[in-house]
Amino acid sequence: MSSKAPIGVFDSGVGGLTVVKEIMRQIPGESIIYFGDTARLPYGSKSKETIITYTRQIVRFLMGKNVKAIVIACNTASAFALETVKAELDIPVIGVVKPGAKAAAESTKNGRIGVIGTEGTIRSGIYNEFLSETNPQVQVFGKACPLFVPLVEEGLIDDPITMEMIRRYTSELIEKDIDTLVLGCTHYPLLRKTIRKIVGDKIELVNPAYETAITLKEVLTEAGLENDDNLKTDHKFYVSDGAEKFKYFANSILPCEVVETKDVNIENY
Ligand code: DGL
Repeated sequence: MSSKAPIGVFDSGVGGLTVVKEIMRQIPGESIIYFGDTARLPYGSKSKETIITYTRQIVRFLMGKNVKAIVIACNTASAFALETVKAELDIPVIGVVKPGAKAAAESTKNGRIGVIGTEGTIRSGIYNEFLSETNPQVQVFGKACPLFVPLVEEGLIDDPITMEMIRRYTSELIEKDIDTLVLGCTHYPLLRKTIRKIVGDKIELVNPAYETAITLKEVLTEAGLENDDNLKTDHKFYVSDGAEKFKYFANSILPCEVVETKDVNIENY
């Protein structure tokens, strides 16, 4: 496998772009092939079996683009499908949950950590699992926030409705005296400033994207796959529906210009 090959990154929609942004910032020499499964979003309310099927299709699509590593930039797919596809592939595959749990375990002072995510991620209990592995003393309080993803997809980032929903979802976590809150869904970092306004500045907000990019860099270096001499990157973006809308969103998030986004019929893979 050539170190010049791109990295495959995928999510159910635009949320994974928060991870792409961090990868571009921390490892600027790497080219990225991004896939957003916008036709089948949300993943958060679907079964484990369905998410494994979707993930396998996307992995086959990315492997067809000769990627050297895959980042599952979706908490729900990381929770449900990472171990399965990792066992089936001979290139490095990383998810966002383990890096996020590591960052939260390092950040907490009082050992009380809140995790917000989709229904699937919270139901899977995966953050509790990784957090207790890292530090058995921590207490983890999970809260599913199913309305956050549609609010982000609609661009209602700083809207009174969004603020009210943040207040409702986070109030029970604040009552538990958490000092750290994991943004356990790749869409949520886009709400970071609004969440900060509601929860105040005493609670540390953990964005797993940051730690995921660090993990990716380490994994590439270990595998001898880091492309540190390529400053002419070639990023490509694909979605399963709504390429124009996605492109507009991507240009509002990423530091580079997204000139083109292509539609892919992912069911064919
Ligand atoms: N990006 C997904 C995640 O991180 C959430 C969006 C969805 O439900 O599809 O879990």
